[in-house]
Amino acid sequence: MSAAVRRSILVVAGIGDGSGTGASTARLFAKNGYRVAVISRSPEATSKTAAEINAAGGEAAAFPVATYTHAEINSAFNAIKNHWKDSDIRVSVFNAAAGVWKGFLDVTEEDLKNSLDTNLVAAFAFARESILAFKDLPLLDGQKKGTLIFTGATAAIRGNKTTSAFAAPKHATRALSQSLAKEFGPQDIHVAHAIIDGGILTNLSKGRRNDPEWEKDSAKRLDPDSIAKSYLYLAGQDRSAWTWELDLRPAHENW
Ligand SMILES: *[C@@H]1O[C@H](CO)[C@@H](O)[C@H](O)[C@H]1NC(C)=O
Ligand SMILES: *[C@@H]1O[C@H](CO)[C@@H](O)[C@H](O)[C@H]1NC(C)=O
Repeated sequence: MSAAVRRSILVVAGIGDGSGTGASTARLFAKNGYRVAVISRSPEATSKTAAEINAAGGEAAAFPVATYTHAEINSAFNAIKNHWKDSDIRVSVFNAAAGVWKGFLDVTEEDLKNSLDTNLVAAFAFARESILAFKDLPLLDGQKKGTLIFTGATAAIRGNKTTSAFAAPKHATRALSQSLAKEFGPQDIHVAHAIIDGGILTNLSKGRRNDPEWEKDSAKRLDPDSIAKSYLYLAGQDRSAWTWELDLRPAHENW
């Protein structure tokens, strides 16, 4: 008698209003057989995204948090493991972010704290829970125990005039991801960082830019569904060629 096959769970943190990278990733992994746990600070967007996936024939559940503290992220992971006891967390995506775009002298202590808490401290907590979830699992398909992906930004590798409070923690989270890739690769855990180098087409960005040309031209902006395809590809990489860092930009992005 063979043991029951355990299903794989994707945990994704950070889905904004439900129209960006996090939600696209949730939908695509659900279509590919993953159970999907959605963590975010918006109870509405979290439950709406999960409900849409369930209505489309996938399996998803919402795990809202008030803030991304270590304690809340720990509780969310425990709740996910309890929710699907016959499944294993195999992929986790840290997509939460807090943007601050201000001249340096206008950055307040609160701006900085908020940016550090969400972009960096929460990334540490999410990484810790993900690695604890993966580390005692058997290899999946003989390849890896799990995949942890961080959504990065241009600001993870380049600073600019108004990015001091955003670029600093984004650089730091990139360094975190590289450190983890080195430490946990030998333990069969795949850690990757994706530099999203361009504007992403979301309902929020459409409203903010109000530029129909930009919306229409797929060479000028990133489609969140296309980013999700790259995340699925990373999760599926075999152990002889793991990407640590992926750099995604639209074809006509100004370098
Ligand atoms: C994004 O906007 C489209 C078109 O207005 C709408 O159908 C969709 O529900 C919105 N998505 C979210 C998550 O609000
Ligand atoms: C840097 O900032 C300038 C003006 O603030 C902007 O025009 C430019 O696109 C930015 N560069 C990048 C790579 O984001």
